[in-house]
Parts: sequence; C-alpha cells; structure tokens
Amino acid sequence: MTRTIDDLLDAMTLEEQVSLLSGEDFWSLPAIERLGIGKLRVSDGPNGARGGGGLLGGVKATAFPVGIGLGASWNVELLQEVGVALAGETKSKGAHMLLAPTVNIQRAVTNGRNFECYSEDPLLTAELAAAYITGLQSQGISATIKHFAGNESEIERTTMSSVIDERSLREVYLIPFEWSVKKAGTKGVMTAYNKVNGAYASEHNWLINDVLRGEWGFDGLVMSDWFGSHSTAPTVNAGLDLEMPGPSRDRGQKLVAAVEAGEVSRDTVRARASAVLSVMEWTGALYDNRPHEERADDRPENRALIRRAGAEGTVLLKNNGVLPIKSVQRIAVIGPNAKVAQIMGGGSSQLNPHYRVSPWDGLVEAVGSDNLSFAPGCTNDRFQPLLRTDLKVEFFAGRHLAGDVVHVETLEAAETFWLGMVAGGKLPALDFSARLTGSFTADKSGTYQVGIASAGLAKVYVNGKLIADAWTNWTQGRTFFEEGCDEVVGSVDLEAGRPAEVVIEFASKDHATLGVAAFRAGIGLPMGDADIAEAASLAAEADVALVFVGRNGEWDTEGSDLPQIELPGRQNELVNAVARANRNVVVVLQTGGPVEMPWLDEVAGIVEAWYPGQEAGNAIADVLLGKAEPGGRLPQSFPVRWSDNPASSQDPKIYPGIDGEVEYREGVFVGYRHYDQHGIKPLFPFGFGLSYTSFAFDAFSIDDSAFETDGTVSVSLDISNSGTRAGSTVVQLYVAPQNAPVKRPAKELKAFAKVPLAAGKKQRVTMSLDARAFAYFDVDRQRWIAAPDTYRLLVGTDAMTTVFSGSVTRSVEIELRP
Ligand code: BGC
Repeated sequence: MTRTIDDLLDAMTLEEQVSLLSGEDFWSLPAIERLGIGKLRVSDGPNGARGGGGLLGGVKATAFPVGIGLGASWNVELLQEVGVALAGETKSKGAHMLLAPTVNIQRAVTNGRNFECYSEDPLLTAELAAAYITGLQSQGISATIKHFAGNESEIERTTMSSVIDERSLREVYLIPFEWSVKKAGTKGVMTAYNKVNGAYASEHNWLINDVLRGEWGFDGLVMSDWFGSHSTAPTVNAGLDLEMPGPSRDRGQKLVAAVEAGEVSRDTVRARASAVLSVMEWTGALYDNRPHEERADDRPENRALIRRAGAEGTVLLKNNGVLPIKSVQRIAVIGPNAKVAQIMGGGSSQLNPHYRVSPWDGLVEAVGSDNLSFAPGCTNDRFQPLLRTDLKVEFFAGRHLAGDVVHVETLEAAETFWLGMVAGGKLPALDFSARLTGSFTADKSGTYQVGIASAGLAKVYVNGKLIADAWTNWTQGRTFFEEGCDEVVGSVDLEAGRPAEVVIEFASKDHATLGVAAFRAGIGLPMGDADIAEAASLAAEADVALVFVGRNGEWDTEGSDLPQIELPGRQNELVNAVARANRNVVVVLQTGGPVEMPWLDEVAGIVEAWYPGQEAGNAIADVLLGKAEPGGRLPQSFPVRWSDNPASSQDPKIYPGIDGEVEYREGVFVGYRHYDQHGIKPLFPFGFGLSYTSFAFDAFSIDDSAFETDGTVSVSLDISNSGTRAGSTVVQLYVAPQNAPVKRPAKELKAFAKVPLAAGKKQRVTMSLDARAFAYFDVDRQRWIAAPDTYRLLVGTDAMTTVFSGSVTRSVEIELRP
C-alpha cells in the first residue's frame, strides 16, 4: 500500500519531522530508516552537476556553458535541451535536485557572479530559466532556482541588505522566479544570502510566504543558501523549509525547543516537512535507498550539445570581412587564453571537467598545426600561477604546528578547500595546522613572485626563507567567499634548473560565515615587454592574428566582485601591439561579462565567447572558421566604460554598498533601460550580435483586434535569409508606452524569437503579447496595471536597431492580480 505524505507525517515524531528540515551533511538530508525514508541529495549547479565532492577534484563531470553563454543564445529550445542533459548528469551523481539555475539580474557589470546569470533583462532571464527548468524537471530532477532575491553582488553578501523598492522587485528582480513557478512549476527555490530591505532572505515572510507561496502558488521546497539561515523560529515561520548545509546549526533540538516554547506551531513544522517530503516524493528520493554512487559519464551526445551550444552563444561583435577565416592562411595564435581553456567561472559552480579544449587545441584539430604559431604575449592571472607540484602535507591537532604529526597525505597542487573534517577525517577543518613541503624548479633564472591567499593563516618559505606572509598581518579580503585575505606577494631569485624547496605553513582561524580552511599558493616569473614584442613580431609574419584575451574564473567568480572592467594585466597593450603589426587582427574575448575595448577601432574582428564549457576551443574554432554561425546576441549591454553602468556611482550606497546596505536607487532602470533613460550610447547594445549571413524583414503586421477586450496583441513579420549561407537572427519585440501614468522605461523587451534559416529561405514569425506585457506594478493597489495608453511596438535586432514599428492603443485599464 502506498503511503501518502500525510500518512508519513502522521507516523513521524516531532523530532523526525524536524530532522527533515536541516541537511545531514553538505549535500544530503538524513534518511529516516524507521519509516523507510531515503535521503534527498542535491548537487551544484548550474553549468553541470558536480556531485558530492568538494570544489576541487571530485568525480569528473560534464561542463556546460555558463549562464551568460546560455543567455547569449536567446534560444529557449536549446536551454530545454541543456536542462534535459543536466538531469542525466544529476542522476549520474546520485542526486535528485540540481542547485540551478542562477537567475539574479546583471545589475552591476562588476558582479563576480555576472557570468552565472543569464541577462540584465528579466524577461529574457525568465524565459530561458523556465525552459531550462522544464527540461530538467521533465526527467524527474528538481530545479532549485536561486538566489531568491536581491543577490546582485558578492560584496559582503552574507550580511548586506539589498534595498529595493517593491515596484522594482516586482518588475525586474522577481520576474524570473515568478515565471519559473507559474510557467515551469519549479520544485525548488533557494533563498539568497543577503537581506532584502532589512530582513534576511531566508527569513523573509513577505517574499517566501506571501509572494512565492501565497500569490504565485509555489508548492515545492524552499532551502537556504549554504550557511545562509541564521535563526530558528523566524526562518521556519517565514516559510524556509530547509536549512542547508548540515549538520544543523539552528534547527534540530533548537527547533523542537522552539515548538515546545510555542514560538513555532506543530502545524508549521508539519507544513515545512510536508514540502520537503513532497519534493522527495516527486523526485523519487523518498524511497531511494540505493547506495550513493557517483559516476563520470562522458557522453558523446553531451559533447555535441555543448559544442553546438558554445557556438549558439558566441557573439560576433565586429567583422570587417576578416571572419570567417577563409582558405589556408598563416595564423598567429596569441594571448593568455589561447592555450589555457577558459571553460567556467569560479565558485560553487566549479566542477572537475572530463576535459578542457583550449582554442589552440580546437584550431589544431581543425586545421593542423603547420600554419599556426603561438605566443602568449602576457598573462591575465589574478593570482600568481598555481604551484603545481606534489606537496607532502603533515597535519597537526590545534592551530600551532605543535605536537605529533597526526596524519600525512599528498596534494598535487598548492591549493585546498577544506570543509568539515580534514586529515583523513581526524581533525576539524577549523582547528588544525599543517606543514606542506614540496619543490619548484625554475625554467629560467630570474626574480620570481610568490603569492599566497588563505582562509586561515599561511606563510610560504622558499629555500628556508620567509617570502610571502599571510599570517602575521592577515586581513580579510576578496578570496574564498570573502573568508580569505587578498593575495600576499613576495619575491625570490631563482636559478634555472635548480630545485628550490617550498614550505607552506597553514593554520585554521575563526571564520565569519563559511567555515572553510583554504589556501592557494602560486609562483611565477613576471612577463614583460619582450613577451609583447614577440607576440607582435609573430603577428607581423602571419596573414591573420587571433588574440585570445579576457578574464578567467579567478576574476569571474563567486565570492568577489571585479574591481573594474578593463582587461586585466597588460592585455590592452598586447592587443594594441598586435594590431600595429597586422591589419587582420581578431580579438576573441572570453569573459563573464562586459569589458572596455579601447582598441575597438584598431582591430578587424571581435568575438565574445564567454566560458562555454569543456568544448570551448572546438566551439570557438567552429565559429572562427565558419563551420558554425556565431549564434549569440548580447544578453547584457556592453558599456563604453564602467562608469556608464547604472550601478556605478560616486555614492557607495548605490554600489558596492556601505554600512550593510546597498541601495538599488536606479529602480527599474537597469541595463538598457538605464542607457535609454540617460541617453548614454553603449559600446554594444543589449541584443546585439552580427551574423555571417544577412537578413531581410518584411510584411510586418499587428493584430490588435483583442487588445481592447483582453489586452492581447500579436505581431508578425517575414524574415528572409538574404545571404549565401545558413545563419540565425534574433528578433526582439520591445513595448514603449507613450504616456504612462508613472515613470517607466522608454521600452522593455516583451517577446523575442530566435530564427535559424537556410540561405534564401523565408519564414513568417509571430510574437504574442498578453496584458502583462503592457503593465507596470502599482504598489498601492497591489495590482499590475495595463493603463489606457498608446504603446509603440518596436521590432528590432538589438535595443538600438528597430526594423519595424507600429502602435496599439487601448482606452480602458486592465488590472491583474500579482
Ligand atoms: C552558493 C550557492 C550554491 C551553494 C552550495 C553557495 O555559496 O551561493 O549558489 O548552490 O553555495 O554550493
């Protein structure tokens, strides 16, 4: 006989119900063996399923494009396919819920997690998220859309209060969550770390109980972000079902006591446990008593999907006819990202990929190496290059490197991310010390830089001499989710070929939020003028120079925002030097968001490829060589300079926040809404991207016959591929109210269609709008209002290029419930 959730709840003691409301460990809930109830397991998310290992290492997994790369595809079918594939990945890691997608809005271009989010636009984000969730959940894996809400920056994210007026929340920041509940039926939601208007998102009664559950009818599970739940009764009463990770800090016996003290009712605990059980039932976790197993499934169909998705998201920003690269030519392959595959960002979305294809590998695979030459030119590292060598680690109990060695193990590189227990499970990560011994042999003689960043105290000695000290004057910085210090760098002279002894001493220390013991040590010889000159002379001898520049996951990472959006290091100088040496220079950018391009006019081509997953180099080579269409369109405006961005301000209250508050003072004017409002011309507008073919637009028509009665309108047009090769375009429909009763953006994206077409083919495309597409949110009335007005409908290929426009008028108001 199958037991209903109510039967199970009836059969449970209060303690058993409470046990379901906290994790048991980092990635799972406790089983209740007495009742045959299995464990719910979760996995990060979102560009793959990492499984239960740590951020480093772990069972290998498939690396998909990051959020902004998928966002740039503007392709809902593709997102659904990716969702289906990720369900398989989640299953291969023995998990039931994927901690994804990330749908915060790209407010500040410097946000460390800009790469993980889809777009600056709520509608684009919402449509893509709904498709991803639909795909994932079609296979019985629950999504966990995150981070609800107001987590648009990494600065002091665990304590910051995002001050956002209700209209902006409703019209911008909540839309992706609303769509995911109403259109895709997401089973999971993760609350944000930050506070929203003074209350922690994890104990925000209005957000969770009133809006999410009450208004939108969400019937799944709400969990905290990791260590983002800070109280007992307030979180439970506000509707937070699950405190993560475990073991519990604020629930367990504390919650039982709160029930006994009358602070939380038994019905509330039952409702929270019921939500957890319902998702366990839906995913099959309820009776999943199989032993936990994680597999590395490297599937050919996923390889193909990722390669296609990479090209679909690659944006061609400039092309003076240099691309696609035609016949066999001499190609200079230049830049720090040429031989290093930048496939993902940093932080909790990191995983251990099956493999990484660099642009160099992709090009060699496609055209052979005979006509290719290479020079790195400069670096773009945020930290000194990681010290990769075997290190013997001797662990000591306590923080003073004293007493007997408790455990010995070997590390393959000088980086760790220790959580929970260390030293083979013998010592707690927050109370131990360690001495690591290894060696480094320099290729060239010179003055090397040695860097150390640590969440804990750390010192690096080279040949017995203290070189980098992050112990004596350790201060909190922007590494390891803000638990670590900024990198401390010292220098040492080394002789080529002579091994130097490297000793790292580490001791755990008290933490702020995340109890992690981590460090990363690096060593490298700074690159200089000669390296840039070498790259330029290589370019001078070639027919085409491809310059692979950008950032990497050290910069585009959870846990720290970017200081600015110039290309790091000497990369701008490198591009300029190469451009002086060769007229056919193509800059291939890989970044998690906008960058300034002072050399824009000096180069012949620019491509933005983001972090497209394990097939990175193949997807990039496909586009450069014309085997694939550059299918991407910018999901985020690229400003000329950081100061043009809405969140850039002299007032730290607006960004990055001060005294615990960051004020979204620009209101609904985010992204292109801001550039429109202030008449600022972006470097490249939202929605922009070139094709290898050309398109013609014709026979535009508007059907507004039902507009007056129910607020719906449809817009149709013919699109023809007027070029000589297959390609795709993205038509975008913006709505511009002419005399709105409140201050509204000049226009807002309300529908879009990605249209692939063979050469010479024509297709009629229809985009439909409902009453919500015309509405603003009236806070006093708590209603969406489609006001009587004339609305211009702009059909374009980006936020600044309109191919057709028309208008519709209504004379009566429509009011809609939230
Ligand atoms: C991130 C979440 C992630 C969680 C678990 C947090 O640091 O904000 O997005 O799912 O860790 O790794």
